[in-house]
Amino acid sequence: MITNHFVALLLASILTSVTILVTYSSYESFSLSYGQQFSSGTEGQKRIVVVTVGCGKSIYFALNSLKSILISKRTDAPTAVYLFTEKNQHGMAREKYDSFLRSNCTGCRSVELFLLHPSYPSEKGRLWLKMWRPCATQRLFLSDISAFTDAVIYVDSDTIFLAPVEDLWEQFALMNDSQAIGMASEHEIGMEWDAHYGRLSHVPFVPPLGVNSGVLLMNLTKLRAVNFVGELVRDYRTYKENLNYHDQDLLNIYLHRHPDRFFHLNCSWNYRMSHCIKRRCNCRSARDHGVRLVHGNAKTFIKKTTQEFRWVSDAIAQVDLPATRDVKEELIRRSFKTTVNHTFCGSLLFNAFMS
Ligand SMILES: *[C@@H]1O[C@H](CO)[C@@H](O)[C@H](O)[C@H]1NC(C)=O
Ligand SMILES: *[C@@H]1O[C@H](CO)[C@@H](O)[C@H](O)[C@H]1NC(C)=O
Ligand SMILES: *[C@@H]1O[C@H](CO)[C@@H](O)[C@H](O)[C@H]1NC(C)=O
Ligand SMILES: *[C@@H]1O[C@H](CO)[C@@H](O)[C@H](O)[C@H]1NC(C)=O
Ligand SMILES: *[C@@H]1O[C@H](CO)[C@@H](O)[C@H](O)[C@H]1NC(C)=O
Repeated sequence: MITNHFVALLLASILTSVTILVTYSSYESFSLSYGQQFSSGTEGQKRIVVVTVGCGKSIYFALNSLKSILISKRTDAPTAVYLFTEKNQHGMAREKYDSFLRSNCTGCRSVELFLLHPSYPSEKGRLWLKMWRPCATQRLFLSDISAFTDAVIYVDSDTIFLAPVEDLWEQFALMNDSQAIGMASEHEIGMEWDAHYGRLSHVPFVPPLGVNSGVLLMNLTKLRAVNFVGELVRDYRTYKENLNYHDQDLLNIYLHRHPDRFFHLNCSWNYRMSHCIKRRCNCRSARDHGVRLVHGNAKTFIKKTTQEFRWVSDAIAQVDLPATRDVKEELIRRSFKTTVNHTFCGSLLFNAFMS
């Protein structure tokens, strides 16, 4: 399955070479050259911009993530969500988005969806496409796409917003002049025994235990000023034999070299199963402030053994917009409370919903 998508993507990439297709929610389609500016209705600078990817079957999760943004949105702040997915999935994604809009939910009035075809700068394209899953390395090239004018939040498809996207965007204001990339730790202090970086990995990483690429705050203006993509390509050539987590490893290598460009994002914004090992929560900010964004990495939104995570994702998928209360009721209906609250990780998730 992946291979088919991969081949399709590769072919599509060769055909479109330096152009990407942009489809507006008003259903216009047009090509956009790399390095070319496009205006998208609202003044780009002032909007919240979220980028996500959903190639192949992960489109299901990407649309669920979008739905969670609509559900948790707090204000009317204009927000653009850019979803990279194969052209043959655009129709389905648009239909789903339209069905969300028909509910007139709070977020529906202020969130606009843009569909894009996965795209890579031509001469680097082949190299990167071969590197990992389709779509997965797209995040590394966002600064090459001038449609994204200043800053973007990037989230993996397997993410669920429990806190408003506005709150995550506000983290940009906490960055100092040199900080350009915000990421949460891959492992928290005290989890050395379980860590990938420093134990199994053979590449430089952000101390103390590496960073996770599932949620990224990227100030593209700053990254463009320092030839970010050029350095990543160089690092890829140097380290390609040693990469386990591919694009995440590359970001670790990059930020290891440029600690002044790294902004530490709280783990409550990238809450994963690895935060709740051995009946203890090692994500302090989630314990103190609640879980803000759930990241179902390593298939935790699918596996039966990680049902507290799977149920959160399923509940979002199954509720009808608009009401937030319905999500709570759905979770209660699923015995989320009684079945999941006995695990520490689950009770934190439960509280995030019920507060
Ligand atoms: C949604 O809002 C529009 C415009 O305000 C209105 O015409 C429509 O009836 C509303 N739909 C629902 C389902 O409330
Ligand atoms: C990104 O950095 C530029 C240049 O320092 C700055 O003007 C802009 O406000 C920053 N964007 C955000 C969202 O913080
Ligand atoms: C921004 O903060 C980081 C981390 O504390 C630091 O390394 C860097 O020097 C700071 N940059 C500026 C311009 O103050
Ligand atoms: C991040 O977490 C730390 C530790 O719990 C906390 O002190 C800090 O206030 C948090 N920051 C935000 C923005 O929530
Ligand atoms: C969940 O479990 C915790 C500790 O195990 C308990 O204190 C809390 O009351 C439980 N919450 C619910 C809603 O059952």
